[in-house]
Amino acid sequence: MAIISKSIALSINTLLCLVSCVLSQQQETEFLHHGFLKANNILNYGSAKILPSGILELTNTSRRQMGQAFHGFPIPFNNPNSSSNPLSFSTSFVFSINAPGHGLTFMISPSMDFTKAMTNQFLGLFNTSNNGNSTNRILAVEFDTVKSNEFLDIDGNHVGIDVNGLVSVESAPAAFFSNRQGKNITLKLSSKDPIRAWIEYNGVEMILNVTLAPLDTSKPKLPLMSRKMNLTEIFNDTKMYVGFSASTGNITSNHYVLGWSFSREGKAKEFDLSRLPSVSAPSPSDLDDFDLLSDTPSDSVTANPKGIKMIIICTLVIMVFMI
Ligand SMILES: *[C@@H]1O[C@H](CO)[C@@H](O)[C@H](O)[C@H]1NC(C)=O
Ligand SMILES: *[C@@H]1O[C@H](CO)[C@@H](O)[C@H](O)[C@H]1NC(C)=O
Ligand SMILES: *[C@@H]1O[C@H](CO)[C@@H](O)[C@H](O)[C@H]1NC(C)=O
Ligand SMILES: *[C@@H]1O[C@H](CO)[C@@H](O)[C@H](O)[C@H]1NC(C)=O
Ligand SMILES: *[C@@H]1O[C@H](CO)[C@@H](O)[C@H](O)[C@H]1NC(C)=O
Ligand SMILES: *[C@@H]1O[C@H](CO)[C@@H](O)[C@H](O)[C@H]1NC(C)=O
Ligand SMILES: *[C@@H]1O[C@H](CO)[C@@H](O)[C@H](O)[C@H]1NC(C)=O
Ligand SMILES: *[C@@H]1O[C@H](CO)[C@@H](O)[C@H](O)[C@H]1NC(C)=O
Ligand SMILES: *[C@@H]1O[C@H](CO)[C@@H](O)[C@H](O)[C@H]1NC(C)=O
Repeated sequence: MAIISKSIALSINTLLCLVSCVLSQQQETEFLHHGFLKANNILNYGSAKILPSGILELTNTSRRQMGQAFHGFPIPFNNPNSSSNPLSFSTSFVFSINAPGHGLTFMISPSMDFTKAMTNQFLGLFNTSNNGNSTNRILAVEFDTVKSNEFLDIDGNHVGIDVNGLVSVESAPAAFFSNRQGKNITLKLSSKDPIRAWIEYNGVEMILNVTLAPLDTSKPKLPLMSRKMNLTEIFNDTKMYVGFSASTGNITSNHYVLGWSFSREGKAKEFDLSRLPSVSAPSPSDLDDFDLLSDTPSDSVTANPKGIKMIIICTLVIMVFMI
């Protein structure tokens, strides 16, 4: 009997420990993924899937596809108790688009349900009936490779800040400021070459910066867009999801994400460029290497499903002892 009650006490201790462990991980507001093979907290919808190379493929080259992928846990954005750091975030990701059709977005949304969204110029984000409705509470940055007159697009190669709809509140032809040459250089979004983007919001100054650059170039000193925005109404929730969407139409492209870094507090961690998967098809031996390399402490949230499994096992063990 003593042994049994000891075991029960031990199991309960373990259980409590695991519960607090899982809860603390759910509060996690920072992550860094080099490829997505070990990122088992990424949820994919529609045509989105993770390729054997670790690349997140949002759309394949079939017509009228859309795909979304999210960090599977909500990010606590508008916690009224953390007034010291309201609403700030910083994210950086590397993407590759091999042809114009139709584009990719980074988004922050109160929901992960985009089954009713549309393909083509809707980018897998909105549909004809909810486009522009302030009840959406969605902030997106679009990397748009097709000019859509319907949404007043400036050209077929632009970056835009979207609030609740696809008519951008601000947009600019894709370009980056070269620190070395001291001037802006045009960038083709759909060249297949990996492009790194930084999206940073300072909730105190209420400034949203969008910066992009070719992967082999260091971060430009000047952002492509820097816009004063009050995102209080958008982030009016403690639970917001962060992720990506993309779509194809009659014209199609692969939309790939190679790596993703995110932080609610401070700057998103920098990538180790040598650890990002490559868009040119890697050989099977490369894959093995990559698999080993990507097993790192940085993907810290990935332990979570394991934790849940452990809780289930512990609960079963306790129940058996009870009986
Ligand atoms: C793209 O994915 C869809 C389903 O997700 C599939 O039906 C289609 O065959 C795929 N196309 C290509 C070119 O792989
Ligand atoms: C904020 O703090 C109050 C009082 O400590 C607490 O009741 C409330 O649940 C907290 N809210 C959140 C979202 O953490
Ligand atoms: C548009 O999307 C919203 C939100 O998902 C949904 O409620 C609505 O039914 C959709 N409308 C159409 C026409 O599909
Ligand atoms: C916006 O969406 C809400 C809720 O879905 C709906 O009640 C309202 O009529 C919509 N507004 C417009 C202008 O479509
Ligand atoms: C570069 O582009 C930015 C954003 O469009 C603009 O504000 C800035 O004046 C440009 N700088 C130069 C040197 O052309
Ligand atoms: C945004 O860019 C401006 C201009 O370069 C800079 O002064 C500001 O600190 C940046 N803000 C963030 C949140 O990165
Ligand atoms: C931001 O918007 C919210 C909601 O509309 C408002 O309550 C708040 O005063 C605004 N903040 C500033 C600095 O304008
Ligand atoms: C936040 O949402 C609540 C209801 O969900 C609403 O009452 C409140 O006015 C909203 N606040 C802002 C700043 O939009
Ligand atoms: C796509 O192509 C079909 C025929 O193949 C045509 O009926 C349709 O209008 C086209 N849609 C767009 C958005 O161009």
